[in-house]
This record gives sequence, C-alpha cells and structure tokens, in this order.
Amino acid sequence: MLKIIVTGGAGFIGSHLARRLLENHEVYIIDCLHPYYSPHRKRIHLDWIKTIGDFHFYNQDLRDREGTIQLIKEISPEVVIHLAALPGVAYSINQPLEYVDYDIKATINVLEGAGQSGARQVIFASSSSVYGNQKGPFHEDMACGKVISPYAAAKYAAESYCHVYEQLYGFQMNIVRFFTVYGPWGRPDMAIGLFIKSLLNGEEIHIFGSGSTRDYTYIDDIVEGIYLTMIKSTGSDTFNIGSGRPIKMEQLLSELKIHFPAMVVKREGPRLGDVDQTWADISKAVHQLGFKPKIAFSLGLKETVKWAREYEKFL
Ligand SMILES: NC(=O)c1ccc[n+]([C@@H]2O[C@H](COP(=O)([O-])OP(=O)(O)OC[C@H]3O[C@@H](n4cnc5c(N)ncnc54)[C@H](O)[C@@H]3O)[C@@H](O)[C@H]2O)c1
Repeated sequence: MLKIIVTGGAGFIGSHLARRLLENHEVYIIDCLHPYYSPHRKRIHLDWIKTIGDFHFYNQDLRDREGTIQLIKEISPEVVIHLAALPGVAYSINQPLEYVDYDIKATINVLEGAGQSGARQVIFASSSSVYGNQKGPFHEDMACGKVISPYAAAKYAAESYCHVYEQLYGFQMNIVRFFTVYGPWGRPDMAIGLFIKSLLNGEEIHIFGSGSTRDYTYIDDIVEGIYLTMIKSTGSDTFNIGSGRPIKMEQLLSELKIHFPAMVVKREGPRLGDVDQTWADISKAVHQLGFKPKIAFSLGLKETVKWAREYEKFL
C-alpha cells in the first residue's frame, strides 16, 4: 500500500483517480476548491470519492509556498500525482498571469515539497496543448515550446521545472500529457459537457470554427494511463495518454444527434488559442506501460449522456 498525494483531487480527473487509487492505496488529496467552476460541484466530487473509502483531505492553496512544502513534508508520501492547475485555454487568453501563478509557480512549490519530503516518484499532468498547432499524430518528441495559448505555455514551462527538480532531488519524474478528457463528472467548461448541458435544456449548441478534430479520451482510460505510469514506468519519462483516435467535429455532432435528435447547431468563428487538431501517438505508452485505451467514443459518449441525464440537474 502506497501513500499517495493527489493534488487537484477534488477536480474531474482527480476524483476519478482517487477512487481508483483507494482500492489499494492511502490517498491524500490537496485541493483549494478553486472557483474556476463551482466549488459546490467539487464538494460533491469529494463525497463521491468517499463512497469508495476514506481519504485525507487538505484545503490548501498550492500557491502558498511555505504551507505547501510543509504539508507535503508532514504527509511524507511515496508518490505525488500533481493534477491541480487552472485549466482552460479560452480563459488563459484573458488571464495569462493567473496561469503563471496556478500552473507554474504552484507546480514549483509541489516539486520542492516532493523533493524535501523524499518522495520517490512525481507524476505531472501536462496537456496535448504543448504540441501547439502541428499536424498529428503527436509523438512525445514533437513538443518544442511553439504553443498558441498561455495555458499551453504554462504547461510547457511547468514541464521544464519538472526536469529541473528531477535533477535537484533525484526522484522519478513522469510527465503525462492528457488528450481532451471526457466522461461522467466531466469538466463543465469543456465542449462535450457544455453541449450536453445545453441540449438537455433544449438550447442550441455553439461550435467555434470548422473542421477541428480532437483526440477525445474517456476518463477511465486516462485514469488507467496514470495508474500504469505509476506502477510500470521504470525511469523518468514523458507519455502521451490519449485514445490515439481523433474525432472530427462533424462526427461528434452526428453522435450527439443520436441522443438529441432535435439538436440545433449555431456555427461561429474560430476561437483564439484553440489548435486545429489533437491526435496522440500512444505507441510509447502502449509499449512501455501496456496502456490500451478501451472505451470507444460512441460508448463513452453514451455513458456521459446517461450520467448527465441523471446528475446534471443537481449541479
Ligand atoms: N480535462 C482535460 O481534458 C485535460 C486535458 C489535458 C490536461 N489536463 C490537466 O489535468 C489536470 C486535471 O484537470 P481537470 O480536468 O480534472 O481539471 P479540474 O479543474 O476539474 O481539477 C483541477 C483541480 O485543481 C484544483 N486547484 C487548482 N489550483 C489549485 C491550487 N493552487 N491549489 C490547490 N488546488 C488547486 C481545483 O480546485 C480543481 O479541483 C490539470 O492539470 C489539467 O491542466 C486536463
């Protein structure tokens, strides 16, 4: 049984991950319930985790350097999985400096705390956005800092600090780059969550730009990718965790129409900061970790719609 810190454990990915880890590990969640989206919803996530088992929860803002380092030292974990961040490409265009604080400075504090506490492994949640506006499939070596949003720039910078602290403290450093994650309890600011909510309310949905493609990855596959990284990766390395199967906007719309036949789509111009395409080359994770995404997009979407019909009205 490992002692594992999950920062951002009250969030979308963190709550699913915590439930998986609780099956055979001791879980310490650090999360400040940031109001980027409803803190009420994050408290519901915490209650949902509790249905699996007990865990430790600390309402700590990771921007507070001394508090963060002290807390991590007190917990003294074997593994730190750092998911906490301010997400969202669109918001980062308007508030770029917040991403320096939440996604870079807070990460430095966590890395320092992990180092001082003697943790043996740190896993950092990065993003497909670090590949910028290239043509896929994206191999891990293709990230070169040429990104198109402050969010992506912050993630790329945070990755650099991960390499620095790996050298300073000698812990095993794994960077996992997630590709557009969706599923039950999905983040309410992301396309699939927004679309389903509007459709449940009988409202039209708004599409930005045309012909964009996303490597939508079901939450269970992301959790499995993180778990495999924790137990199978033997050294410090970076892995794409995605489905490896890009979905065109038109395909997403036709899948949604199956569930919402009366769907009305309003098309708008492209949004600044959004890349045209994401597409993960997952061969490295497949060969080195035994990672194998299991959930087909149509099934994942069906599960997400089913969840939303049941829960969205309470959130
Ligand atoms: N969801 C995706 O599609 C996706 C894709 C690529 C990368 N990621 C990354 O995965 C991670 C988790 O994403 P998510 O979708 O679950 O987001 P989320 O917003 O649901 O979860 C992030 C959590 O971090 C917490 N947090 C933020 N700043 C904090 C701070 N300073 N101190 C303490 N807690 C703080 C928030 O309260 C929130 O609960 C993030 O690093 C995100 O950038 C997500």
